[in-house]
Amino acid sequence: MSANRTEKEQVRVHIRWMIRRDMPEVLQAEQESFEYAWTEEDFLRCLRQRNCIGMVAEQGERVVGFMIYELHKAKLHILNFAVHPHYRRLGVGLQMVAKLISKLSSHRRTRITLEVRETNLAAQLFFRSQSFKAMRVLRAFYEDSGEDAFLMQYRLADDVSEDVEEAINRIAQFEEN
Ligand SMILES: CC(C)(COP(=O)(O)OP(=O)(O)OC[C@H]1O[C@@H](n2cnc3c(N)ncnc32)[C@H](O)[C@@H]1OP(=O)(O)O)[C@@H](O)C(=O)NCCC(=O)NCCS
Repeated sequence: MSANRTEKEQVRVHIRWMIRRDMPEVLQAEQESFEYAWTEEDFLRCLRQRNCIGMVAEQGERVVGFMIYELHKAKLHILNFAVHPHYRRLGVGLQMVAKLISKLSSHRRTRITLEVRETNLAAQLFFRSQSFKAMRVLRAFYEDSGEDAFLMQYRLADDVSEDVEEAINRIAQFEEN
């Protein structure tokens, strides 16, 4: 940790499973974070699936961030993730990602994946800062805006599985164009 980092204002959050009572604060963070926001029904439909997990970050009594992810055989896939705008750049997102990384294991789930909108530079930079790599471009991935997505992946350093894609440095390729 650099000197700068320790001097910077940080918020320490408590991370726990999402419960029904969190929904109003989660929806508020969702609506303030995304142009094409999930509705309450979208959250509930997703969380009814057996492999879908909701996590929240709490500061005091307040839910300041949430993450929805799916469990797959070899990976975790992030479906939705936001920190309330008033609590950004305070280390909340990185604490949530660290929690997710702590759930990986070198002989079972070794990767975390997600799709991020091509226009969402803040999230791309955030995930890059947490050692995620851009793997692939998914053309016209979003039905709402027609945007492309970048598929980003985090992979455990001691991952020994063979069925994983290697990252091609697509972002560097774009920078050259
Ligand atoms: C992406 C998001 C969850 C990050 O949460 P956060 O709590 O603000 O992130 P952190 O404070 O933990 O940031 C950690 C590091 O990520 C990078 N980072 C985060 N936000 C960034 C931004 N807007 N621009 C550049 N780098 C950024 C920085 O390196 C930062 O460290 P620093 O503040 O010391 O420079 C938050 O910006 C958000 O909710 N965005 C809207 C919703 C969204 O896009 N979700 C992701 C969908 S794929």
